[in-house]
Amino acid sequence: MNSFNEKNIQLHYNQFAGIYNTLPSDEFFQRILGLGLDEKSEVLDIGCASGKLVFQIAEKFNCEKIVGIDISEVEIEIANKTRNEKGLTNCSFYTGNALNLPFEDAEFDFVISNRVFQLINEMEAAFKEADRVLKPGGQLFILLVTSDKDDVMPEYHDLLKTAWKNNITDKPAPKIFNVVSVKDVENMMANVGVENYKITLERYSFKSPRERAEAGLPVYNILGGYWKQGIDPEIVRKIDNEMKELLNEQCDKFGYFKSTGHFLILTYKK
Ligand SMILES: C[S@@+](CC[C@H](N)C(=O)[O-])C[C@H]1O[C@@H](n2cnc3c(N)ncnc32)[C@H](O)[C@@H]1O
Repeated sequence: MNSFNEKNIQLHYNQFAGIYNTLPSDEFFQRILGLGLDEKSEVLDIGCASGKLVFQIAEKFNCEKIVGIDISEVEIEIANKTRNEKGLTNCSFYTGNALNLPFEDAEFDFVISNRVFQLINEMEAAFKEADRVLKPGGQLFILLVTSDKDDVMPEYHDLLKTAWKNNITDKPAPKIFNVVSVKDVENMMANVGVENYKITLERYSFKSPRERAEAGLPVYNILGGYWKQGIDPEIVRKIDNEMKELLNEQCDKFGYFKSTGHFLILTYKK
């Protein structure tokens, strides 16, 4: 299955448990409003963290069944607690890996995921799993973060190399995300056996950690997680802090770090 140590991956994400719920943006929720969800829909959110999107969907559409899965058991504990506080009976949460979904074939009308697939190094296997649990006629909507450069977000990678050298000297700095091109995703779709998909790209840049803190926004692991998987969480924390410092130094006068990254949005009807 996963060549990285799954326990370390869990430990890593456990550190950030709850934080994605506090992000003010409901940008992804806005993106899925037009998909045709209704009260009969059965929905799966892969990498749901502590369930923000699941609850937004439940409150807006009162769907038949909305399921969230996340590798962090701490996120799932928070999600379950919130579900109980809200008294929602149509939402459920599972701790689990996107590479091995604990669901039957063709169980869901909608399979959605926001900013998770770039963190999974066996991305094609994760797409296969997402497709497996989708009903015929069901819709998939996955947003992942990537870059259109050959290198992995080269500007981040330079920062990471510096932080890496200061903390781990005996290994080359790894890539930051599992960055894939449109061509890569097309190849993966061919291997999964999907033809009628659509891919769209959107460029983005983001506020530096200092700007976020000053604006009262949470400063989370903004630099992604792929490179961190399987590495001692203590070392990860040190590198993360060092990278935040480097980001603060290198942002523009408006406090933005200009990324070469973009969102890749993959959608299809099965
Ligand atoms: C950047 S956060 C996005 C969370 C949420 N989707 C959102 O939009 O706020 C990535 C999430 O993916 C989860 N994750 C990472 N690798 C995973 C895997 N292999 N299987 C399931 N969840 C995973 C992490 O625990 C984390 O909660």
